[in-house]
Amino acid sequence: MADERLKMGRCGKLLVEHRSSLRCPVEATSPGTEAAPERPSSGPVMLGKPAAARRIDSKSTKSQPSPAKEKEASVKNEQSSGQQAPAPQKAPASETRQELRVGVVGIGWAGQQHLKAYASLRGVRIVSLAGMEQELRGSLQAEYSIPSAFSDWEEMLEHGGLDAISVAVPTFLHAPIAVAALERGIHVLSEKPIARNAVEGQAMVDAARKAGRVLDVAFNHRRRGDIQALKGVIEQGGLGRPYYAKASWLRRSGIPTLGSWFTNPELAGGGPLADIGVHALDYALHLLGEPKVVSVSAATHSELGPQGRGGGSQYSALASRHAFEVEDFASAFLRLEGGGTLLIEASWATYRETDDLLDFTVYGTDGGAELKVQGAPFPPVGELRVFTEKDGESADYVPSVLPGRAHDGVVEDFVTAVRGGAGIWGEHDGSLALYRAQVIDACYQSAREQREVRL
Ligand SMILES: NC(=O)c1ccc[n+]([C@@H]2O[C@H](COP(=O)([O-])OP(=O)(O)OC[C@H]3O[C@@H](n4cnc5c(N)ncnc54)[C@H](O)[C@@H]3O)[C@@H](O)[C@H]2O)c1
Repeated sequence: MADERLKMGRCGKLLVEHRSSLRCPVEATSPGTEAAPERPSSGPVMLGKPAAARRIDSKSTKSQPSPAKEKEASVKNEQSSGQQAPAPQKAPASETRQELRVGVVGIGWAGQQHLKAYASLRGVRIVSLAGMEQELRGSLQAEYSIPSAFSDWEEMLEHGGLDAISVAVPTFLHAPIAVAALERGIHVLSEKPIARNAVEGQAMVDAARKAGRVLDVAFNHRRRGDIQALKGVIEQGGLGRPYYAKASWLRRSGIPTLGSWFTNPELAGGGPLADIGVHALDYALHLLGEPKVVSVSAATHSELGPQGRGGGSQYSALASRHAFEVEDFASAFLRLEGGGTLLIEASWATYRETDDLLDFTVYGTDGGAELKVQGAPFPPVGELRVFTEKDGESADYVPSVLPGRAHDGVVEDFVTAVRGGAGIWGEHDGSLALYRAQVIDACYQSAREQREVRL
């Protein structure tokens, strides 16, 4: 469970009294499942009339981590969103040393995925940790033999000695921490969404470009093996030209803790659209080859959360503590360049199947495909079917899929980018994640103003 209480500090800073479980109770379920041991699904299976089956192999074939551990911690904390003037910039250690010295800010479910992933990489040393849960901080520091641990991110940056950090804290802190780190010449891997809105995201991208450092954002679900397999099908032209797609992440009762920072727009930037809809938007645009979004028409609803419903029975007791001020369901219709259309749906709470659903449907001129990942937690491999024809006959098939690497892949790619040197850092400036924020902002504007918004 998580329980944060908002109040203003003496100096006017927003403070949060935070009681946190070590695992994001809902979103965490899904990425966590990608940590299952790698195993292939069954081979190609015919759908409809028999036809020549093609085998689609996932690109992601590396080993998987063990499932995320779940512990309980209930420690009172305070956090601030303040910033300090950056220390004079030193020569980045990544250019002068072989060992990469990293720090992780935030020790909830997300931060722990980053810790685990860094710990598995050779030549990477976790030198500091920041998080407000004292007991948990101590146990993680011991588990990963981390020399320094701090209750606040600013102390960690001031302490120095960092080449790179992961930012896995409530969304309102992404921009202040990332910008402060980048100004010190530290590479940044931020959790999604990039920030509360595109203005903050732009500040992060600007800081990365100015500093000439890496800014990556963790979109782990696009790394699912089934999504990568489908990406291969689309890239090879297996569906012709896609013209319609739909991507959703739907939960029946999955508000990530009623009364927590997730349900406060000042801290989170939005509800399920910003939290999990951004994953659906990310993998949809990724699968479709990054088309530009021309316009959006969106609607948001807030029906169950305000009544203290939709948080799962274990969280309902917290419902009266803080107002639920974000949406609990959102849908958005996107017009894409080239005439294609994309429907995005995201819910934390709505009356539907109990299991979470992450899905993607695409229809193209020569074929279609449907991906359904259902469960709580999500299975590492979902049901992927491809519908096409050959010589006028149905040639539907089920591609062969291996599990993806989720946060392990995100962190490893970040480290690879940092090690790749200044020549490639410009390609990792966070602009892809910023674009997602711009689309999400347009969706919220459309919902507010009840009209189509052009980008
Ligand atoms: N990619 C994914 O699959 C995924 C899954 C879950 C969460 N997330 C994202 O990760 C981020 C964190 O989510 P979470 O579920 O882990 O949240 P959480 O509330 O469980 O953990 C937040 C952490 O931030 C720390 N923190 C807050 N203020 C701090 C400060 N001033 N200094 C240092 N540490 C501070 C807290 O102590 C806590 O350890 C969010 O942006 C969320 O959207 C991503």
